[in-house]
Amino acid sequence: MTQDELKDAVAAAAIDEVRPMLGNNIVIGIGTGSTANCFIDRLAELRGDFRGAVASSEASAKRLKGHGIDVFELNETGTLPVYIDGADEVNAHLQMIKGGGAALTREKIVAACASRFICIADASKHVERLGNFPLPVEVIPMARSYVARELVKLGADPVYRQGVVTDNGNQILDCYEFMIDDPVAMEARLNAIVGVVTNGLFAARPADILLLGESSGVSRHVSA
Ligand code: A5P
Repeated sequence: MTQDELKDAVAAAAIDEVRPMLGNNIVIGIGTGSTANCFIDRLAELRGDFRGAVASSEASAKRLKGHGIDVFELNETGTLPVYIDGADEVNAHLQMIKGGGAALTREKIVAACASRFICIADASKHVERLGNFPLPVEVIPMARSYVARELVKLGADPVYRQGVVTDNGNQILDCYEFMIDDPVAMEARLNAIVGVVTNGLFAARPADILLLGESSGVSRHVSA
């Protein structure tokens, strides 16, 4: 199977996972990226079975609306029953690196408001140790150089993602050469740097369920 076929397979498995939760008053959280797009496209056939969605990016909101799915502001909805999103890396504890698509802040906010986080990923995303994928850090623009110097002190090699402005009007530093031994501690440490809006470690709040697409099929992993 190609990587695209694996992404579609996990999207189909996520539809099966979510279908029993749907109902007229149900609003679900939807993430960002190519795997989330596969899920959005499959969700279109269920659009009459739920109220709508909260999106973690303008791009996902546009795709949802294109399928006739209503998109709500998170402040209107309260707690969501479920959030479905991809990942750049995911480990055995269902801790993740996210933000390859620069949507990490809204992703973390929507995930925080969801009772259940379902991560959908192809097998290439599954790692023993997080950090081979450069960790994105969203920064207030005027703090970018300061934050970069602080990241160097922590052992990272931060690179400014040129030309990218997040949906929140901020900038991204990608941390290369930054293997992470204790994701929960590092997430908190990075959050404490003045000028950091969010970092792409999703460790304090890992996924609850991982649907992993492998050539042998989709495996389901539940957070311990
Ligand atoms: C978006 O900012 C990211 O967190 C995505 O969820 C992540 O990059 C996965 O994207 P793909 O499904 O395109 O690999």
